[in-house]
Amino acid sequence: MRAFLGMKPLLVLFTVFVLAPVLGRSLNPSLNDDVLGLIVFKADIQDPKGKLATWSEDDDSPCKWDGVKCHPRSNRVIELSLDDFSLSGHIGRGLLQLQSLRKLSLSKNNLTGSLTPNIAHIDNLRALDLSENSFSGPVPEDFFRQCGSLRTISLAKNKISGKIPGSLGSCASLAAIDLSLNQFSGSVPAGIWSLNGIRSLDLSNNLLEGEIPKVIGGLNNLRAVNLGNNRFTGQVPDGIGSCLLLRSIDLSENSFSGNLPQTMQKLSLCSYLNLHQNSFAGEVPEWIGELKSLETLDLSGNRFLGEVPSSIGNLQALKVLNFSANGFTGSLPKSMAYCTSLVALDFSKNSMAGELPAWIFKAGLEEVSLSEKKLSGSANSPVSSSIGNPPQNLQVVDLSLNQFSGEIASDIGVLSSLRSLNLSGNSLIGPIPVTIGELKALDNVDLSENRLSGSIPLEIGGAFSLKELRLETNFLTGKIPTSIGNCSSLTTLIASQNRLTGPVPAAMAKLTNLQNVDLSFNNLTGGLPKQLVNLPNLLSFNISHNNLQGELPAGAFFNTISPSSVSGNPSLCGSAVNKSCPTVLPKPIVLNPNSSSDSTTPGTLSSNLGHRRIILSISALIAIAAAAVIVIGVIAITVLNLRVRSSTTHSPAALALSAGDDFSHSPTTDGNSGKLFMFSGEPDFSTGAHALLNKDCELGRGGFGAVYRTVLRDGRPVAIKKLTVSSLVKSQEEFEREVKKLGKVRHDNLVEIEGYYWTPSLQLIIYEYVSGGSLYKHLHDGAGGNFLSWNDRFNIILGTAKSLAHLHQMNIIHYNIKSSNVLIGSSGEPKVGDFGLARLLPMLDRYVLSSKIQSALGYMAPEFACKTVKITEKCDVYGFGVLVLEVVTGKRPVEYMEDDVVVLCDMVRGALEEGRVEECIDGRLQGNFPAEEAIPVMKLGLICTSQVPSNRPDMAEVVNILELIRCPSEGQEEL
Ligand SMILES: *[C@@H]1O[C@H](CO)[C@@H](O)[C@H](O)[C@H]1NC(C)=O
Ligand SMILES: *[C@@H]1O[C@H](CO)[C@@H](O)[C@H](O)[C@H]1NC(C)=O
Ligand SMILES: *[C@@H]1O[C@H](CO)[C@@H](O)[C@H](O)[C@H]1NC(C)=O
Repeated sequence: MRAFLGMKPLLVLFTVFVLAPVLGRSLNPSLNDDVLGLIVFKADIQDPKGKLATWSEDDDSPCKWDGVKCHPRSNRVIELSLDDFSLSGHIGRGLLQLQSLRKLSLSKNNLTGSLTPNIAHIDNLRALDLSENSFSGPVPEDFFRQCGSLRTISLAKNKISGKIPGSLGSCASLAAIDLSLNQFSGSVPAGIWSLNGIRSLDLSNNLLEGEIPKVIGGLNNLRAVNLGNNRFTGQVPDGIGSCLLLRSIDLSENSFSGNLPQTMQKLSLCSYLNLHQNSFAGEVPEWIGELKSLETLDLSGNRFLGEVPSSIGNLQALKVLNFSANGFTGSLPKSMAYCTSLVALDFSKNSMAGELPAWIFKAGLEEVSLSEKKLSGSANSPVSSSIGNPPQNLQVVDLSLNQFSGEIASDIGVLSSLRSLNLSGNSLIGPIPVTIGELKALDNVDLSENRLSGSIPLEIGGAFSLKELRLETNFLTGKIPTSIGNCSSLTTLIASQNRLTGPVPAAMAKLTNLQNVDLSFNNLTGGLPKQLVNLPNLLSFNISHNNLQGELPAGAFFNTISPSSVSGNPSLCGSAVNKSCPTVLPKPIVLNPNSSSDSTTPGTLSSNLGHRRIILSISALIAIAAAAVIVIGVIAITVLNLRVRSSTTHSPAALALSAGDDFSHSPTTDGNSGKLFMFSGEPDFSTGAHALLNKDCELGRGGFGAVYRTVLRDGRPVAIKKLTVSSLVKSQEEFEREVKKLGKVRHDNLVEIEGYYWTPSLQLIIYEYVSGGSLYKHLHDGAGGNFLSWNDRFNIILGTAKSLAHLHQMNIIHYNIKSSNVLIGSSGEPKVGDFGLARLLPMLDRYVLSSKIQSALGYMAPEFACKTVKITEKCDVYGFGVLVLEVVTGKRPVEYMEDDVVVLCDMVRGALEEGRVEECIDGRLQGNFPAEEAIPVMKLGLICTSQVPSNRPDMAEVVNILELIRCPSEGQEEL
């Protein structure tokens, strides 16, 4: 095709359009007009699929080309059929060369532009089919000027607008006109109504208006007329009765009015009459029974009234009868029992009353809609076995909003083709028949708003095609059967306002198509299965007003579940009900920002781990022990406090810890000697005990206990953590072994452990003191924190990552990574504290881990909630990921808004998906950050917070990635 854009087509065009008219074709005998015309046509359009590949300008004749048909003798092109060739573009003037063309068919392409007389020589054409393209604009008024031969024309399914050209009415040979699915407007040219050869006229789906003229009676060849979905008005003229060959009449969706002309009774060949959605009025005439060929009679959505004529019973070919949404009264005529071909019957939305006639459920019928009538009787009759011949073709039954009473027939299972069953809004009683499970084709069941009792049958699992099950507002009892898990197509399950008991079955988590679930206002109990979070398509899940208990599943849909969907369950906990769960969120420790130790040892990181036993002086011990024995109460503490305070004031030396002395009895403890151990040797607390009692010296509190600042005799500050989990701590040997192991961990980004003190009732850990406060304070504590630049933040993230990588390398899991455990050193470097303390606990089980240690909301990896997943160092990676997002966004991992809970990871993940992740970056940076660093860092944070532990990277990988992310230029600036 490209080749044609070179010299040759230009030459061809030049020859055809410039030379030929001037010089006459005889001067150019070697050039075949048809070849030229088609080549020019091809050059004008696009042929992306190469469907015209056989068309070559080197050929002498086009007769073997695809889509081309020649006259056997003259060898001139008489047919061009390029349907569905994927051609696009404008049709040029090439086809004008085809002097003998009889049939032009270009349907189902993507041709564009407006129709002009230059498309082809209309005067020879018998058939023109341009349907299903993208032609647009109006058709020129004289387009059909010389169309004497034209028999069929289709312009269907384009975007043509404007009036139907009047010249179309002059095409005297026309037998078929299809202008449907365009935007033709205005009235239909009068000439068209007089084309008495016309057999089929389809003007449907346009914007045409006006009335059908009386002259229509002349169309005595007319077999099918479709004026549907336009703006036609007026009455159907009497003349229609003269179109005796009419088989199909579709006037639906217009504004026709009046009654049906009596002449229509002569249309005995008519099999399809659709008057749906007009303003026809009056009674349906008795003569309707004369239209013996009728197969479809749709009068729905009009203003017909009165009784349904009993002559309907004469329509024995009738398959579809739709009288819905009119004003019919009375009952269904008994004669309808003779309509033995009926497949679908719709009398819904009328004002009819009376009993449901037995004939309605004969074999053959596929669809029955009698809703919103005042029918009464027993729904039993439909399917009772008393009917010898069960209606096995019945697919749709809609008897909703009537007054049926009695039980649903127990043998409903015989309706093996049933797809949709709507019995809602009646007064049905008794159980849901177990045979419902035999309905393998059933996809939609609505039994709501009846008085059904008993339980949801186990057999429901057999109806595995079910998509919608509505049982609300009945008196159903018992459990939701676990077999519901077999209905794998289920999208909607509504069973609210019943008396269901027992748990929400875990099997529901298998129904991955579930979108809407409403089990509200029942008596369901037990916990919600965690697996429900795996339902990917949930849109609503209403379990309000039951007796459910325990924790709401966390994650996916359940993170954003609306509080009203879970309210009214007093024992349910989780953020959506604004009630913390005891197993996950322990007491007040929870969100304390300063739970960690602090310390700075600017000087020696002594590699000398020389062991020295150090004994506390009496008064120091009294003070420390007093602090430990909280139960003594206020008075005792006050007394001791006074004592200690006086001793510190008067003789600081008395409180000094002296090395080497044995201390044999303690006033408040069991007499075991306390043991102080400093890894560096040289321990000297000058005011240690004082620190432990003085609130002013308290640095913070965490899951493991309070931390106090105190000063060694040499003036060096240290942080002392008093473990409050004493009862959980292991034996002395184990405790010492573990602390010593932690004491050996040295890293620039880890808070160093300098020593410990042990008695059976009191354990202290002595840490390096870090002056700069916690990262939490810097990020969230307006007053106490300093502004962190992007560079500071990056360094904190990187340093934290390095420290965790180091811990993991030593097989130590931190278990408690959070911003309040990351301290900021004097030169802005992060120092991670509180690591590995979980090892001091005698039992490292999930409960202890999640309640005592991973107490901070938002940092806890999901596997803590999942008993089957092993907890590994990947839980630190998760916490680190949350921390990264926290540092970059400046937001807490979980923020409680007025009536909303925002989970940071989800928020950032959502923003990333919507492509506006940059908006999440801490506004305080005021755009002063390199996006090429910040965005990858956020993505890394999100990867670290993957739900599945194995999807999270190792900390060592994280460090590598971060170093790669850091922009080279930035790095150099730092150097
Ligand atoms: C028409 O073009 C559209 C896009 O321009 C394409 O999606 C469609 O498949 C085309 N249709 C045919 C019939 O080639
Ligand atoms: C009857 O017509 C209404 C529209 O007026 C339609 O919604 C309904 O599906 C039709 N009923 C049947 C059985 O075709
Ligand atoms: C729910 O169960 C409780 C006791 O189990 C009962 O008192 C209450 O009436 C039940 N509610 C309903 C709506 O059945």
